[in-house]
This record gives sequence, C-alpha cells and structure tokens, in this order.
Amino acid sequence: MKLASHALTADAVFYRNQFDLREAFERDVARFPGLSLSAPAVTADMSKCLWDRSVVTQLMELARARELETRRAAMFDGQAINESEGRPVLHASLRAAVVGDAASRGKTSDLAGSVLDMLELAQTIRRNPAIQDVVHIGIGGSSLGPELVCQALADFKSTAIRVHFVSNIDAHQLDAVLRALRPASTVFVVASKSFSTLETLRNAQSALRWFARQAPELATQEHFVAITAKPERAQAMGFGAVLGMPEGIGGRFSLWSSIGLPIAIAIGPDHFKALLQGGCAMDQHFLGEPLEKNLPVWLGLLDVWNSTYLQFASRCVVPYHHGLRRLPAFLQQLDMESNGKRVKRDGAPVDGRTGQCVWGEVGSDSQHAFFQWLHQGTQITPVEFVVVRHPCHQLMGHHQALLANAVAQAQALMLGQSSRKVNGLNGHQDFPGNRPSCFLVLEKLTPYNLGAFLALQEHRVFVAGTVWGVNSFDQWGVELGKVLATDIDRRLSSGDGDGLDPSTAGLVALLQAT
Ligand code: F6P
Repeated sequence: MKLASHALTADAVFYRNQFDLREAFERDVARFPGLSLSAPAVTADMSKCLWDRSVVTQLMELARARELETRRAAMFDGQAINESEGRPVLHASLRAAVVGDAASRGKTSDLAGSVLDMLELAQTIRRNPAIQDVVHIGIGGSSLGPELVCQALADFKSTAIRVHFVSNIDAHQLDAVLRALRPASTVFVVASKSFSTLETLRNAQSALRWFARQAPELATQEHFVAITAKPERAQAMGFGAVLGMPEGIGGRFSLWSSIGLPIAIAIGPDHFKALLQGGCAMDQHFLGEPLEKNLPVWLGLLDVWNSTYLQFASRCVVPYHHGLRRLPAFLQQLDMESNGKRVKRDGAPVDGRTGQCVWGEVGSDSQHAFFQWLHQGTQITPVEFVVVRHPCHQLMGHHQALLANAVAQAQALMLGQSSRKVNGLNGHQDFPGNRPSCFLVLEKLTPYNLGAFLALQEHRVFVAGTVWGVNSFDQWGVELGKVLATDIDRRLSSGDGDGLDPSTAGLVALLQAT
C-alpha cells in the first residue's frame, strides 16, 4: 500500500477490513516494543492501533513530504505560520522564554514579561490573608486549560484560597458561585484574549454590578483584574489592573501565559514554572528528535491514519484519573478547533477527512456509560486510554484496581470474546474485538509531567494539521454563530421575524420575551 495521495485510498479500507490485531501480535512477537515510544514524562503503547511498522514508515514519509520539519522549525523560529491571522505561534517560545535555558530563550526572552508580572500578582494574592476566593471568568481557551490544570494538580494546591471557574453565559453558573462569596474576600479574574467575547463580558458586567451592590464602600479596582491581549478594551471598560498577553498565544494554547493566573494562585509560582519546564522538555523532544523517535509526530500521524485513511470519525479519550476529568473537554477544543477544517492553508479544499470528533469521559465511570457501545456497537471508535502509574493518595486497594480496569478494557476491546466459548448460547455475549486503542502512561501527575503531557497534545495537533495542510491556529468556524446570535438576541426583544427562514422565525416566536 502506498500513502502517496492524501485522499482515501481503497487500499487503506482494504487494509482496515483485513487487519486483525490478534493475528498481528502472533505474526510479530516484537510488536509491543516496536510500536511503543517514550518521551519526557509520557510513554505511549500504540501496538493496539490498526497499523504496523510499514504503515508507520509510510506515514513518516508523508510527514516529510508535507514539510513537517520545515514548519516545525518555522514555528519555533517565531515565523508567522498562522497565515490567515498573520501571526506567529508562540506558546512553545513563551515556555522557553520563562523557564528555558539561555540558548532556548534566544530572541524570545521579551515574551516572558507578562508571565512574570502574572506570577508576581499571584504571589500578592496568595499572601493577602483577606482573600479567600478567586473567581476566574473566561471561556474556551481562556478557561478550559486553567480549569483542567487546577483540578489535575489539586494535590499541589498550597493555599486555602478557593478557585472558581465561570464560563457559561447561562447565569445559573455565576449566580451559584456568587451566592457563596463575600466581596471583601474575593478577587475576580476576567480572562479574555480578545476582550470581546460575549459570555465573558456579560459575566464580568454582572460580577461588577454584584460587587458594587454588595459592597459600595470597597474599591472595585482592588478586586478585579483583567487578562487580555487588548488592554485598551479592558481599560475602556473600567479595569485598572490589566495583565497583558502576546497576540501570538492562541486561546487554546494559553494556559502557559498570564491566562494561567488561577493556576499560579492555586499551586504557587514554583509549581507553575515546573509546569512550563515540563512543557519545555516536550518542546525539546519535539524539536530535537528525528521523526521516527518523536512521540508528538507518532500521535499526530496516528490521528491522520485513523481519520483520513481508516475513516474513523471520532476518537474517544478516557483518562483514568479523577484530576483529569476535564481532559476530554480540553482536548475537544484543542483538537477540534484546530483541525476541524475543510480548506487548506491556501484556501483550496482538503483532499479527505481532517480532524476527528474528540469526546470522552473519565474512567472508570465511563465504563458504566458508553463502553457498551465501544465494545458491541456497530461503529468502531479508537480509544485513547490515559493512566497515571503512581497516585498522590495513600488509600489502599484503589489505584491498582483503577489501572487494572484501564488495561482490561484495552485488552477486551482488542481480544473480544466469542459467546459460544462462554455458554454456547446466542450472540448477545459476543465481543467482536479487533477494536483499536492507544495507551498513554504518565509516571505521576506532577506539574512537570502534566506540562509535558499537555505540550505533547498541542504538538500532536500541529503535526496532524500540518500533514492535512490546514492552519491549526485559526478558528473562523466559530464566527458565524456569534454574528447571528447578536441579530437573534435583538429579534427576541422585538419579536421581529422579518426576513428569517421559517424555522428560525418559528423559534423566535416561541422564545420571544413577553
Ligand atoms: O469562540 C472561540 C474562541 O475564540 C476560542 O478560540 C477562545 O479560546 C475563546 O473563544 C475565548 O476567546 P477570548 O479569550 O478572546 O475571550
């Protein structure tokens, strides 16, 4: 089979239909080591994926033909590889600027300023005994990364300050948080790269009104801080304390930047730097290792193989760690906003399928929800298991059982079972098996290891996007809905359905304000 064309080849479908994982292991006794790879803090077993060494070799050739190495160098060099927005892509450079060695800081050291300001502010807030609550208002990339990291590193929390996240314009969320707060002991962080996001601005305005009503004697300036790449917009809204961030940090890549303030408040500046150091270690791996020994490259190519060639429409992510329960949501934005694209960088249509639907839920809970579908449903979805070898708790009898569940699920997906062997009855207990999965192992959920793991995911998305030829760093697909919502909002006030399609007009009439 030749992967010369990016389009689906009949060969790949034939390969998928013929390929049997169980036979593949019988054929190749070295399949496990041959299709496993380690990178800083993460080991990946990719031997249960529907591929073999010859496919991997061809995918590497494809990556070279798509100039992955050139584009990778261009990203680390700070070139404007986000062409449709005319911006460089600086999240890796930012990590190096803050915690890298002198050589890797190179010409990007000026990027560090806003992060260092943020770390200083985090310390000031942590050292203020009056502060008990921090409310982080932001959405998408201005919320998901910080929330995920705060949850994942809960065992490294070194302050009594409670950190809350408010993202939804549905005020049930904000209202529930506000009810538990006292203005004098609360700091609100309003995080929006653009400072024009409806949800965030509406929540910020409501928080400001609540604060002024509850505590007219207090200075708002001392309890609100904005984080944005558009400081003039925050200042125009009356924010006095404003932290900047570089335009070249994309929203979904921004947890490492000043947007990470709630992380630094929760775990402290040293642990925040360790998070960035882990990210830097993965950057060095991605930049320095040949493609054949490069884990982000392998995982990105696996995504291309599964989506474009094997035609699997989705990828199911199952983290077996309570702290990683927001990982599926985080990866959903990271991957789908980056690679959910149908035109290439030059605007021409792509040749075949691009980014998959990413979904999932924490293990072991999800085993009791959708694993039935994964094992016996009619569609096949590759699963990505994420486990952590060593827990941070001391409770006996839990962690090994958790790991056993993850391994057993991967085993069951692959091996399947014939019911005739079990009870000789009908097919209800048949498991077809031959269902692919990939298994990622972290040693322990420390700031450093988490940083490496998240940078791995970022680079993997970039690798797949590069092979597909799309721009993984813009997100024009979210704009149309935002524009239409402004018009519909006006119509819900006025009841004006003129010029609308009949379905939308019907909904406006149904939901119109009375
Ligand atoms: O609507 C999508 C999006 O632009 C994301 O890319 C971004 O992470 C999120 O909205 C929030 O944007 P901002 O940080 O500008 O408020």
